[in-house]
Amino acid sequence: MVSTVTLDKLVSLCKRRGFIFQTADIYGGLNGVYDAGPLGTLMKSNVRALWQQSLQRLDKDIVFIDGALLGPETMWKASGHLESFHDPLVECKSCNSRFRADDVDLARACPRCGKTDWTDVREFHLMFKTQLGASVEQSSVAYLRPETAQSVFVNFKNVWTTSRVKIPFGIAQIGKAFRNEITPKQFLFRMREFEQMELEWFCTEATAREFFDFWATERTSFYKSIGVNQTHIRLRSHEKEELSHYSTATSDVEYEFPFGWKELEGIAYRGCYDLSQHAQHSKKDLAVFDEETKESYTPHVIECSVGVDRLFLTLLFNAYCEEAVEGEVRTVLRLHPSVAPIKAAFLPLVNKLAEPCERIYAEFKKCGISVQFDVSGSIGKRYRRQDEIGTPYCFTYDFESAETGTVTVRHRDSMKQERIAINSIASYITHTSPFLTPCPH
Ligand code: GAP
Repeated sequence: MVSTVTLDKLVSLCKRRGFIFQTADIYGGLNGVYDAGPLGTLMKSNVRALWQQSLQRLDKDIVFIDGALLGPETMWKASGHLESFHDPLVECKSCNSRFRADDVDLARACPRCGKTDWTDVREFHLMFKTQLGASVEQSSVAYLRPETAQSVFVNFKNVWTTSRVKIPFGIAQIGKAFRNEITPKQFLFRMREFEQMELEWFCTEATAREFFDFWATERTSFYKSIGVNQTHIRLRSHEKEELSHYSTATSDVEYEFPFGWKELEGIAYRGCYDLSQHAQHSKKDLAVFDEETKESYTPHVIECSVGVDRLFLTLLFNAYCEEAVEGEVRTVLRLHPSVAPIKAAFLPLVNKLAEPCERIYAEFKKCGISVQFDVSGSIGKRYRRQDEIGTPYCFTYDFESAETGTVTVRHRDSMKQERIAINSIASYITHTSPFLTPCPH
């Protein structure tokens, strides 16, 4: 290793290789909002698929929904977001810059203009408000959801009555969420438009503590299964004063970023807060009937919530590596194969071997596997290009290939090469796909 990963290096790689672009780049960007490029899009869909699969593989009932991004004001009033979803804000009276009060030291000067003249701290509401249609009535006010969870709670009865599920069971969802963060920062870490993957696990009050521990263990081991370095990950219980308005116990799965230990996923015991609130405000019965005790009760909820973008950033930090190779610096993304955007590259050693090599590549492409074919530049440069985007295998078609029915396979991490039969390429590639990976349980 020649140097450690920094945020700047990662941002630069993401832009250079087409993982992430600033939104509306050509107009100067939009703070806290990003677009995924071709490689970022492939990698994000792997992340989503792996998360979904990690839940589907369990011997538990978990169904999935895809809720709307907009919700009526009454819903956000019931959830507590209208009243409680804000951050403390201060403004520098001299240059009018605004900061989250917990991000700056108010005893010191403004980091932008150097003057010390702060306003009092006030609460800043984080939800994006909008108006539906041309009407200006209060009932047409809507908000973009600041968490996907509420779509699950307001659909609880719909799912319950249509899906033949029984307590305990889970409703999971992947989708966009929006927060008007005062200071979006650290690239994808704190954004204004981002994506969440959330599981709401419905159970009885008596079993909630047990399930809280179950999910904390399960979610931590998920990160291990997708290659997150165990020395950079930990589970931390929240202190009482850190808890959100809905939670009585929360543990965070934290990752050690270059800017410190930070939350990657939150596991929260939400009690029966959300369903009770929505039942009270909507005046709909959201309780379930227990056939054994012949009583109705409101289920309790354990929530596991992680951001797609934050996990994506974590996986990049976890994988980024620079090392000295033959007097040069090799940048390599040591991504777990299941996460890697490109599963394999097919490289003819020289131009005139392109055709047979491209035929092998086309066989895999036809199966819907994301593979690349690259003929331009020296073979060494082409290997480096694939290293930088985390491609686990490069298959090189050389002068022996036609005669012996073989290619060489080069392993990204060790850079070792071995000669293998062309018909065994598939066995390498199937292990890289989240859809094709054999079940580990
Ligand atoms: N439903 C619970 C909830 O939303 P949260 O701790 O505010 O809890 C859950 O968010 C996860 O969503 C975080 O652990 C993080 O991974 C992701 N997340 C939250 N705010 C984010 C932001 N502004 N930008 C990117 N990801 C964010």
